[in-house]
Amino acid sequence: MWAHRLSRFNRLAWQPAPATPLLRRGLASHTRWFPQEPAEPLVKTTTIPGPQSKAALEALGRLQDPRAAIFASDFQRSIGNYIADADGNVLLDLYAQISSIPLGYNHPAILEISQSPEMLWALANRPALGVMPPKEWASILEDAFMRVAPKGLDQVFTTMCGSCANELAYKAAFMHFAARKRQESSLTFASPRTLQAYEESCMKNQPPGSPEYVILSFKQAFHGRMFGSLSTTRSKAIHKLDIPAFPWPAVRFPRVQFPLDGYAAENQQEESRSLQEVAQTLDSSPLPVAAVVVEPIQSEGGDNHASPHFFRELRRLTRDRDVLLIVDEVQTGVGATGTFWAHEKWGLDADNAPDVVTFSKKFQAAGFYHTRKLRPEQAYRNFNTWLGDPVRALHAKAIVDTVKRDNLLQLVNDVGGALMTQLEALQAQYPQAMSNLRGQGTFIAFDLPSTDQRNQFLTNMRSLGVNMAGCGDHTVRLRPMLVLQPKHVGIIADRLEAGLKRTFT
Ligand SMILES: Cc1ncc(COP(=O)(O)O)c(C=O)c1O
Repeated sequence: MWAHRLSRFNRLAWQPAPATPLLRRGLASHTRWFPQEPAEPLVKTTTIPGPQSKAALEALGRLQDPRAAIFASDFQRSIGNYIADADGNVLLDLYAQISSIPLGYNHPAILEISQSPEMLWALANRPALGVMPPKEWASILEDAFMRVAPKGLDQVFTTMCGSCANELAYKAAFMHFAARKRQESSLTFASPRTLQAYEESCMKNQPPGSPEYVILSFKQAFHGRMFGSLSTTRSKAIHKLDIPAFPWPAVRFPRVQFPLDGYAAENQQEESRSLQEVAQTLDSSPLPVAAVVVEPIQSEGGDNHASPHFFRELRRLTRDRDVLLIVDEVQTGVGATGTFWAHEKWGLDADNAPDVVTFSKKFQAAGFYHTRKLRPEQAYRNFNTWLGDPVRALHAKAIVDTVKRDNLLQLVNDVGGALMTQLEALQAQYPQAMSNLRGQGTFIAFDLPSTDQRNQFLTNMRSLGVNMAGCGDHTVRLRPMLVLQPKHVGIIADRLEAGLKRTFT
């Protein structure tokens, strides 16, 4: 039924603007984006994955390792906040492709731009953006990224994934740091002798061409799974096993207590301990620290929060020492915390902005914002073949248009507030099971007593029709899309209660 409607919709959406009546109706207000969205989840199989999902994963298993897969999705039948699977189960999706779907499945605005003439050339001709960018690239960057650029950052570098965004940001930071060090020693690449010494040594992986600089990260942080980013990742050991790592330092991230305002004094002390460790490491690290990287909320590591004061102090410590601050907004960015960028809540002015903000996931495109001083001395230094993808940048443009036009940040705040009220009541009712409820916008989490119980709870939630995931050791995280609506809150609260009962009685 949906598939039929969707394919009719697809045909209609092929028309150029003005939008079709169906599209116009869909965009008129957020309660009508997805007229085909079901009223509630539909669970048909006794287990998820059901037989069709298992068969699809078995077929996949002949070619790829499918062991991390939860079920096989059916994207043609997924709509809005609901994901369909191969067995026809339709789950309310609070995981959203690992927190990376911004506007819901098959959102009219994404379908419309996906079928536009500008998308067609981008799909058919993938450019090497560093050498032969399309003539429209500057205006696409402007529309997709610069309209929502974090305060104080007027440059954007596009990449392929969240880990790539961080790695390329680290490279930019190292190049900047090295250039500064050379300047302090009156060395310059304009001198052929200097350049030769650097080029020859880097070919042997030795200083000065390959310097022993470090990036400082926080314990429990997650910044990606590629070689450089993995060395700053300090959670989810499964991804680090057997991979050589740089000898880079990590310091304590505050372990605050919830509710935050109930433990203000204790939390401030805890944050001071962490800041002291940062200062000590910056001042006495045997290897020079080029940058500090931090998440506004440590996400994969367990939804660990800290106060705006903590982050402002972190900025002060780094700025005082001329160390760059990289804010990893791969998971927190693009609206889920109720502001477009989570770090907006820190209240930093443009002069004290982070030096770099990285993004991916809900932006669909990945990359990092930075200040102009972070452009390397020579061209071609921070580089790869594709340097991002106009297809994903065009999607990013539609995402920004929709977030602004439909006032989705307000919706996230309203729905997040309503969800928190319901979850507070559940926590009060099930204090033995649920604790440490915390959240900003709809970026919400709570703890269960153990990893096993958390995992059992997540399995139970899927058979109750809600797809959700964990983070940290024993945390349940909610990562809905920006189009979660008030009508979903009651469904979520009811199913969470059923899930708690099923898991704990
Ligand atoms: C905060 C953060 N940084 C970086 C990454 C890595 O992104 P990707 O998996 O796209 O490489 C993630 C992924 O979960 C993340 O949550």
